Order: sequence, then structure tokens, then C-alpha cells
Amino acid sequence: MIYLGVETSCDETACAVVKDGRQLLSSKLFSQTAIHQVYGGVVPEVAARSHVETINGVILDALSQSGVEPHQLNGIACTVGPGLIGTLLVGLSAAKSLSWAWDVPLIGVDHLMAHVCANYINTELEPPFIALLVSGGHTQIVHFESYERGVILGQTIDDAAGEAYDKVARLLGLGYPGGPKVDKAAAGGNPKAFKFPEGNVAGYNFSFSGLKTAVLRTVEKLPQPLPIEDLAASFQHAVNRVLVRKTIMAQEELGVTRIVLAGGVAANSDLRRKFDVQAKAKIYYPGSHLCTDNAAMVAAAAFFCGEPVPLDVTAYSRQRGMEVAKSAP
Ligand code: KG4
Ligand code: ZN
Repeated sequence: MIYLGVETSCDETACAVVKDGRQLLSSKLFSQTAIHQVYGGVVPEVAARSHVETINGVILDALSQSGVEPHQLNGIACTVGPGLIGTLLVGLSAAKSLSWAWDVPLIGVDHLMAHVCANYINTELEPPFIALLVSGGHTQIVHFESYERGVILGQTIDDAAGEAYDKVARLLGLGYPGGPKVDKAAAGGNPKAFKFPEGNVAGYNFSFSGLKTAVLRTVEKLPQPLPIEDLAASFQHAVNRVLVRKTIMAQEELGVTRIVLAGGVAANSDLRRKFDVQAKAKIYYPGSHLCTDNAAMVAAAAFFCGEPVPLDVTAYSRQRGMEVAKSAP
């Protein structure tokens, strides 16, 4: 089964072709980072316009590099949500047009399910597993018993982990996109230089807003120049420590043997290292380019958990693809 995937949920215009959910035939991506850098964050209207300009070229490149002809495709997979409505609609309109023109089914894919499915590419991963889903908008611990069904055991009650990385990066003057810059700065710093709080919430839930405020208060009291590397390392250590501890707690309590990391923050080198060292489970994380938004994960998700959708389907902005456990907020 060969799927063409299209992804435009935020600031990456991406298209990829994947066979049987695991074999990557091609992957193309136009990153808008340079466009949004001057604003210090993603501007939705600017992002949507950029998608319009680049989407056709990205799709044509991905298809020609794959060597696959349109009539060989089993589906055109597209992220339907959650994400920015204006940007999602650009990818969805392109995918609908191709589905209609080539007479190939349109497959709707949930962005967060797709992040998890990035872990199937070039691996033999199978459910059951516990997924730590850490992106710019979401932080969740999800129990996957099957390819299609994820139950959210816990999640953040305020900021997402990626959001905390981005806000602290701005506070430290590191700029946008924040996560990779904190990761890099932290590599030269001492994680024990500052003691930041872990966010005291029950069960598998998280809270990062107090941590962000603690970094702000510390920065306000410190003389210039700021010890950027130590601050980045100490903040990163505080975020990652609680992510790792609660994920391992869920994996052990549910008695599964695999932990899967997904979403942009899964690219964080310290997070990966902490899991590798502390977990007794087998750890899966995609290559960095498959952690952040991409279309390979969308084409993979089409194979494992995508659903044929009608051509009048519309985009959604809030999460729909997973169930929430009663114990989660
Ligand atoms: O999954 P993603 O690409 O987009 C969303 O669906 O939100 O995640 C983006 C988030 C951003 O907050 C970004 O700062 C963070 O992932 N991120 C990282 C790293 N690379 C990306 N955070 C920490 N360390 C990284 N290396
Ligand atoms: Zn994403």
C-alpha cells in the first residue's frame, strides 16, 4: 500500500511517499522558519500564504523523487487537524484536488496520531506501548493497545513542553525556534546550576507554567551577562526529568515493554539520553527530522490508522484522534 502524505498544520509545507507505513520512498519539506523568525513566532496568516506558494512544488518534488506514478497510489493522506485552520485548509485543498483529479481516495489523518506513527518508519515497532507525545501544543502520556486506539492517561494542565521551551528561549534571548536553541545552549551548561521546580500535579499530568515563571524570576535577579548555558541546562533538566519520570511510571504500571517518544520535543538530545539511561523498557524515537512536523509521518499514519474521508471534509483545530482516560484532566 503506497500513500502520498501532505502536511501543512503549522509552519512546514511537507509531502512524502511511504510504502506499507514503514518504507520511506521520498520526503520533501519547505520550512518557513526564516520567514517567521523576524516575528519571533509563527504568524498564521503569513504561514497560510507561504503554504499556498510552495505546496504544489513540494508535492511534485516528493512524487517525482519517489518514482511512483499517481495511479499506483492507494490514497492521498492529509493532516485534517489539530492545527492552524488557515494552514490546514491549504494542504487539505491540495489533497482534495489530487484525490479528485487522480481518482484516488482521500485519507484523513490526525496530526498527533501521525507524530506517534513516525516511530513505525524504518522500525518493527508494534503496539502495545506507552507514547510520550511532546509537541509545541500538546504534552500527553498515551497508552496504545492497538495501532488505531490511543488512550490519554495524562496531559499538561497549562503550557505544553514545547511551548515552555519556546517561551524560555525567548526569555533567554535565544530566539525562535526555541527548543533546538535551548538544546544547543544547554549542551555547554551545568544542569544543577539552578534548582527549578518540577510542577506539582497528580498522576500522569504535567504543569509547566510555574517552571517558566521560576526561570523568569531567576533571570530578573541575576546580573548581566546572564549565564545562558547554565540557565538553559537547568531548565531543560527540570522539564525532561518530570517527562521521563512520569512516562516510566506509566510504562511500569501498565506493564508494557516499549516507550515511544513523539513530537518536536522528542528531538531533544537530553530527553533521549535520560530515557536511554533510566528506562528498562525498549525506547523508540524517530530521527530528528521525523520528530518535528513532516509528511512521512502522515503517509505512515494513513496505513496504520487513517480513515477514508469525503471530499467535503473540513479541518479541525482541537484534538480529536484519541480518547481521554477518566483520570486525566
Ligand atoms: O511537533 P512539532 O514540530 O510541532 C507541533 O505539532 O507543535 O513541535 C514543535 C515544538 C516546538 O515547541 C519546538 O521548540 C520543539 O518542538 N522542539 C524542541 C526541539 N526541537 C523542536 N524542543 C526541545 N529540544 C529540541 N531539540
Ligand atoms: Zn506537530
